[in-house]
Amino acid sequence: RKAREPEVQQNHELTSLAAAREAVQDCRRCPLYEQATQAVFGEGPEQAQVMFVGEQPGDQEDLAGRPFVGPAGQVFDEAIEKVGIDRKRIYVTNAVKHFKFEPRGKRRIHQRPDGGEVQACKFWLNLELQFVKPRLVVALGATAAQSLLGKASVTISKLRGQPIEMPDGSMLLVTNHPSYLLRIPDAEGRQVERAKFEADLALARDMLL
Ligand code: URA
Repeated sequence: RKAREPEVQQNHELTSLAAAREAVQDCRRCPLYEQATQAVFGEGPEQAQVMFVGEQPGDQEDLAGRPFVGPAGQVFDEAIEKVGIDRKRIYVTNAVKHFKFEPRGKRRIHQRPDGGEVQACKFWLNLELQFVKPRLVVALGATAAQSLLGKASVTISKLRGQPIEMPDGSMLLVTNHPSYLLRIPDAEGRQVERAKFEADLALARDMLL
């Protein structure tokens, strides 16, 4: 395994999305592979016009090997369905491909990836961007926005609602992470934030028309 790594991980070897999806399982670019069950690569049509980027797989995604299938995925699915975005037509991925967590008893508690981990994993996100070539990228939360903008910190409230033109000509739209909605304790506040999230997704939908 050791001898194979550099070869597999050379950019020029990865001439397709399928090759990248296979190679990511051997990723040693940061230590997160040690604890995770598997790498979770993006999912969706290679011709998708829009790419949604989350933070990292959660507990259920780590086990299933698919992005956004747990509680945050449910919030995401409900919201896109409400505004009329078909999940089968979008590409869904994460800024970081391995689940970072702290074991606590039987549970695995989500840990935010640090800047070095996000940067190391940008290699894989860049390949996805290169092969899918989305017209629009939607950053779900600060980690995705930091990765895509190459910034150490971003403020969602300052960036949301206004598309940013990227150097490659694609557009970037920043919104909250769906799990943010799950963490709001009061129903009224949650409703307000849900409406804002849906408005951002509706803007994404309209940009693709
Ligand atoms: N949260 C994310 O950011 N991505 C997932 O795939 C699941 C939860």
